Amino acid sequence: MGSSPVIEKIKEKLDIVDVIREYVPALKKAGRNFKANCPFHNEKTPSFNVSPDKQIFHCFGCGEGGDLFSFVMKIEGLTFPEAARKLALKAGVEYGDERTHEMTEADKERLELKKMLAHAAAFYQKALFAPEGEKARLYLGERRLSKATVERFGLGWAPANGNALMAELKAKGWTKDLALKAGLVTEREGGRTGDTFRGRIMFPIRGQAGDTIAFGGRVLDPEAQPKYLNSPETVLFSKRRTLYGIHEALPQIRMSGRLLLLEGYMDVIGAHQHGVDWAVAPLGTALTAEHASFIGRYAKDTVVMFDDDRAGIQASVRAAEVFMESGLYVRLANLGTGQDPDEFLNDHGRAEFEGKIAAAADTLEFRMNLFFKNRKTPPTSQEKAQAIALLLETVAKQPDEILKSEWVKSLATRFGVEEASVLKQLRKVVVRPEREARREAPQAVSMPPIERGFIQLMLRDPALIEQAAALSPDDFSDPMARSLFSAILALPPEARTRIPQAISAEFPEQAALVMGLAVSDPGGEISAAQNASGAVRMLKRFALQRRWTEMKGRIASLTAAELQEFRRLAGELKSSK
Ligand code: UTP
Ligand code: MN
Repeated sequence: MGSSPVIEKIKEKLDIVDVIREYVPALKKAGRNFKANCPFHNEKTPSFNVSPDKQIFHCFGCGEGGDLFSFVMKIEGLTFPEAARKLALKAGVEYGDERTHEMTEADKERLELKKMLAHAAAFYQKALFAPEGEKARLYLGERRLSKATVERFGLGWAPANGNALMAELKAKGWTKDLALKAGLVTEREGGRTGDTFRGRIMFPIRGQAGDTIAFGGRVLDPEAQPKYLNSPETVLFSKRRTLYGIHEALPQIRMSGRLLLLEGYMDVIGAHQHGVDWAVAPLGTALTAEHASFIGRYAKDTVVMFDDDRAGIQASVRAAEVFMESGLYVRLANLGTGQDPDEFLNDHGRAEFEGKIAAAADTLEFRMNLFFKNRKTPPTSQEKAQAIALLLETVAKQPDEILKSEWVKSLATRFGVEEASVLKQLRKVVVRPEREARREAPQAVSMPPIERGFIQLMLRDPALIEQAAALSPDDFSDPMARSLFSAILALPPEARTRIPQAISAEFPEQAALVMGLAVSDPGGEISAAQNASGAVRMLKRFALQRRWTEMKGRIASLTAAELQEFRRLAGELKSSK
């Protein structure tokens, strides 16, 4: 990932704060830095920092960090050249040919996989509009999808013949090995391989940036199993993180701050066709904490609307709990007709559908509504007790104490019982501990504060390197501080404009620590750059003190020369007081 004139030009034109704010709108000024909840892990209090001075970001929670290129690579799942191309466009800088830029082997492979998947999508699309795709076209027509919608979502048809795609890919020069890695072909019995998708309507699954990263395929035959087949997990595709429709929906979600979470492919496509273009869906998996934290970054108003059947209702309550555990607030909607969203839209239209979204209730209210719905006689005491016990499991998971007590109140009111007894019952509910432990962030805790502070000053101000020349590595007691100090002093002058990046490259294992030091304020002993010379004196003095203490410990066995040094140290220490 070397630097080049183009890269330098991009860095000159773009400010990391502006770039990151597009992905993390909640970024707020906090002292010299900007802060927000980290987009790379799930958290409730912001530990994600962006430093405009250093043009770097760092998260103290999960240890992610780097410059604007690494940010875009990480958040969009791009290779360096892809991220650079994207940023070049934004900066209005001519990027040139990607081959002229350095790429790692892993980058090259990801790029090749994406090209292959894009080609596969085009191949499936062509097959849909060829004679062999007729049945599939008829089916899509029955589902009331317009040609424009089919094209917008890039739908296709996987020929029933077991090797059509592999043959095509081979003809284009791609290997079976790469096709396996893309999940497009699969090993079958007897070591033979064949196309993963056969005789299925194909739904390209796109990443945020719009590249095809996987596929879902739906059978035509209602008896065939499974109804939907998804690509396996690959280097490009993780079900836990992906939302179907995100590329198409993101502009609207960004603009309006609202997001509609539906259950499946056809629901999302149907919603978009009717103009409800802020809809996305997880991919046949339960909603994960990763999904929730991604959604929380963009949407202020999330409504979950799963299929109006038992399974759908259960899944939506579970999804709401995942959001809740991530400290996010969502509402649940229910169509009430037993229809899937795409069917409902076709029958009742957009206005009525949006009415259902507007009527979405919070999780507890939603569940209470279900309980009281279609009930002709009031519930017996036993039924009430059972229902309340069940609902209290949701209440107990609510991390917001205000909401929690509001919920207790509304439970009591709605069921006509004493609030005090609801509270008593709530205390008996045991909450499972949070499943995801925070990843341990590397910290410079072992460094004495003065040493850590001085390293911080050096990381942020190249001018200080001159003053630091008065120090030697031995003036640092902590081994890590000592190596960082030596490495910074040894940097070539041209690297001094971006010390944190240069040092991180040299100590990849310590990169998180270095970035962390660079963006945080040196507290305590050192508070401002003007104190650097004071810090130099202090470090010197502490080093003398350490040497003196060490010698004192073995004073009886000191050589004559050492004894002389010991006396000199004692004198220096006295005079430097
Ligand atoms: P549904 O069975 O509700 O399908 O599964 P659907 O969305 O209503 O699809 P249509 O309307 O019959 O075409 C909901 C979602 O669960 C995943 C898919 O993502 C699907 O969209 N799913 C379902 C699978 O991954 N595999 C399956 O076999 C079934
Ligand atoms: Mn459906």
